[in-house]
Amino acid sequence: MIRIICVVLIASFIGLVVFSAVTLYDETLQVGRMWETPAIRPYEAPLPVMATTLVPFSDGELFYRTADPDTLTAPFDLAEAQVVAQGRQAYRYYCIQCHGVNFDGYGTVGQSFAPPPGDLRSTRVQNLRVGRIFHEISYGIPNGRQPALASTIAVDERWQVVAFIRSLGVRP
Ligand code: HEC
Repeated sequence: MIRIICVVLIASFIGLVVFSAVTLYDETLQVGRMWETPAIRPYEAPLPVMATTLVPFSDGELFYRTADPDTLTAPFDLAEAQVVAQGRQAYRYYCIQCHGVNFDGYGTVGQSFAPPPGDLRSTRVQNLRVGRIFHEISYGIPNGRQPALASTIAVDERWQVVAFIRSLGVRP
């Protein structure tokens, strides 16, 4: 029995010495061990404070969605040449496949609708308020087939495309 206790004691002593030696060696190392990563564990660092402007409480998509379409106005001048030019580009990206190169609804996809999407240069569409057109392309037309593109096209680009449609005028 005493032999066993002696062996255990000696083994523990050797273990302690080895552990201390390794620890001492580690502490004098130039580079850290792999287990000493600079990783931040949960709640170790305070969470960064979110900038108050990050989540919109006014304006933003919800504002546009819930507002009366006829009262919506663009955040910039829709008559400006540069805005119209950007709108022309956006029309090519997002609308031309349905509304067509001539804005008459006979686009590659549009022609498969019956009736086709309609003429964007008709007196009726040209007389719609800009806010109404913006709302229709953003959230679709109730019981209609215009796709809701709010999650596809950024707000500014939607206004630009409205500017472009407006610039076309009524078909002569
Ligand atoms: C997937 C095909 C498709 C795409 C893409 C599309 N439209 Fe349409 N659009 C339609 C259809 C179909 C209608 C007719 C909707 C109805 O009367 O229900 C329509 C109707 C409209 C109207 C109303 C016309 C009216 O007679 O009142 C406007 C304005 C309009 N689209 C603009 C756009 C703009 C701008 C884009 C690009 C940002 C666009 N659309 C993209 C299919 C499309």
